[in-house]
Amino acid sequence: MPVVPTKEIIDRAFAEGYGVAAINVVNDLTLEAVLAAAEELHAPLIVQTSVKTVKMTGADVLFAMWTEMTRRLRVPVALHLDHCPERDVISLCLQKGWNSVLFDGSALSVEVNQRQCIEVVAEAGRYGALVEGEIEGFKRVEAMADDERVNEQSLETAVEFVRSTGIDVFAPAIGNAHGMYKTTPKLDSQRVTDVVAATGIPVALHGGTGMSPEQFSDLIGRGCAKVNISTALKISYMKSGFDYMTEHPAEYDPPSLFRAQRAAVLEMAEYHIRLFGSHGKAW
Ligand code: 13P
Repeated sequence: MPVVPTKEIIDRAFAEGYGVAAINVVNDLTLEAVLAAAEELHAPLIVQTSVKTVKMTGADVLFAMWTEMTRRLRVPVALHLDHCPERDVISLCLQKGWNSVLFDGSALSVEVNQRQCIEVVAEAGRYGALVEGEIEGFKRVEAMADDERVNEQSLETAVEFVRSTGIDVFAPAIGNAHGMYKTTPKLDSQRVTDVVAATGIPVALHGGTGMSPEQFSDLIGRGCAKVNISTALKISYMKSGFDYMTEHPAEYDPPSLFRAQRAAVLEMAEYHIRLFGSHGKAW
């Protein structure tokens, strides 16, 4: 059975010191391409869907694609709902069969976030699903002034949140942001070490696109067992389509365009899987 609990994938990576790529897909083509990359490199993989993608495609269609495309895989994979503040979408995805969710209560006060997160953990537990939590939120690079940091909570607050909610993975702010960094970001890697030492649970590294290979290996070594990549997929998917049409302006053959896009997304996924050290780690 190729689909396994997200916890199994992350806990192994955490114990063995490598990072699992958690890649956001946007449709059937990108889903198939990242699964093919994992299969080729014999790597475990977490496939992520945003709330936007769930709403655009529909949970039923997305999950039918997932079931069909993973049926014959030989590597362990899991399906994760990324940043979701909407409890009804969390419930819907858990009911359909998603293996984990990130309850994003970062816009709430820590107390309300904590109360709701406890409920989400109980709900997910009924399905054997993992819950990732966050208390600080991540902005988009474009929305941030140079060197701006989102408001960080104290280590004590973070530890109390993890302890009281029973989440399995925590996503702390360390100077990371979603989108394409203008320059290599300045990251507070010590905060990862502190959070892991104080909580004993793995950290999810957000805003992976554009971090340097050295940053990835340092942060993974400190306990970032789940490494999120989204913008890099969008760039490879859309830019390869644009480039293809620019090179073949009068060719209106969708399968040729799709082949070029698939190759670009697959290459992007393989690049990150190798960088995170999860190639050859499938069981
Ligand atoms: P990037 O879009 O910067 O790769 O971030 C992905 C992410 O953290 C998704 O939650």
